[in-house]
Amino acid sequence: VTAVLRTNGIDNSPLQIFVKAKKKINDIFGEIEDYVNDTVEYMHEIEKEDHIVSAEKVKQIEEFVDKVHSIREVLSRDHMKVAFFGRTSNGKSSVINAMLRDKILPSGIGHTTNCFLQVEGSTSEDPYLTKEGSNERCAVESVGQLAHALCKEKLSESEMVRVFWPKNRCLLLRDDVVFVDSPGVDVTPNLDEWIDKHCLDADVFVLVANAESTLMVTEKNFFHKVSKKLSKPNIFILNNRWDASATEPEFLDQVRRQHQERAVDFLVKELGVCSSKEAEERIFFISAKEVLQARMAEQGQTASTPLTEGFQTRYFEFQDFERKFEECISKSAVKTKFEQHSQRGKFIANELRDILESIYNEALRLREEKLKQRKELTDKINYTEQQLVIITQEMKKKIRNMVEDVEQRVSKALTE
Ligand code: GTP
Ligand code: MG
Repeated sequence: VTAVLRTNGIDNSPLQIFVKAKKKINDIFGEIEDYVNDTVEYMHEIEKEDHIVSAEKVKQIEEFVDKVHSIREVLSRDHMKVAFFGRTSNGKSSVINAMLRDKILPSGIGHTTNCFLQVEGSTSEDPYLTKEGSNERCAVESVGQLAHALCKEKLSESEMVRVFWPKNRCLLLRDDVVFVDSPGVDVTPNLDEWIDKHCLDADVFVLVANAESTLMVTEKNFFHKVSKKLSKPNIFILNNRWDASATEPEFLDQVRRQHQERAVDFLVKELGVCSSKEAEERIFFISAKEVLQARMAEQGQTASTPLTEGFQTRYFEFQDFERKFEECISKSAVKTKFEQHSQRGKFIANELRDILESIYNEALRLREEKLKQRKELTDKINYTEQQLVIITQEMKKKIRNMVEDVEQRVSKALTE
């Protein structure tokens, strides 16, 4: 249903919280970049005249150009990252394949995944992979090929192979979710190295446990280490292979309760990463194998297989997990990825405003000064004008007197 709704354009996936926030913050930083560039251009223009801005301030703003540019680059690459851990053969690769609705990662009995595998969306039409420390693209057509490519290399288990899968084949990859698959936690002494290399920027961790046994010390140990390095990591616990319970229905409720209690205790009491109420939303009983089979059959990729008793309930529980997971990862990623950048954006905008304001105030001060100078000048002119008026009036009077005097004298002389 989700897939149909999304392809019809009614996208109500919780992942959209992140997708929309990412678009918004990218747009805002686009505007900040324009704003910074305009300010720099403007400051260069006025720097030449009037000495309104100091060279120091111009330099300070110029530094913002590079800063904003690199923030924009980081933002455009930001994604949500989920990492899967658990013992060998618990079904980590199968869970990822079920979520991606395709057999992308090799899975099978025995120790299958022997290095870190990161699946991410790509705009390229065909899938390809790159190995650690190289940009060389190796084409992969099938899971068999991928497994082969991984086997023939002598890869160290901490190494990372990136699998680029076409975004248009999977909605989760389109929405910027990156999946990290790992080798079993029981096959390595290098847990600390794993955490430092691959876990520090993960938004969500999924512990894939085996519902047929119980949480193992190695699995617990790993998450103890993770929660020491990260404050309150988001951890989901999947009790996989729950289809096995169908063979023993009389113990189903009892076993479920036992696993549930232990998992809650582990998250709440041992790790202290969430409350008991939150823990209820973090623990699921599923069968990755069944979900993958059903989804592949739905898409007509494989023939449908006979369903085991209780399949529908397990399928719903898997969908419930996916929804809670999407909500959790998008909210957490918005916070961890964007909070700092939005603070930085605010800081830059404030700095720009302060500087522009100081330019404005300086310009006002200069204007006042010039007006004052002009006023003094006009006062002087006015005075001179008045003097002139007075002088001319006096002159006129004198001349008139003179003329009258002359006239009188002339007429007097004439009569005489
Ligand atoms: P490694 O990569 O070796 O660490 O194992 P993994 O945890 O990735 O397990 P993988 O997905 O390879 O699964 C191991 C085997 O278990 C495969 O044969 C799967 O088909 C099978 N399997 C996975 N999930 C389930 C499940 O829910 N039910 C059942 N019955 N089998 C499952
Ligand atoms: Mg695997």
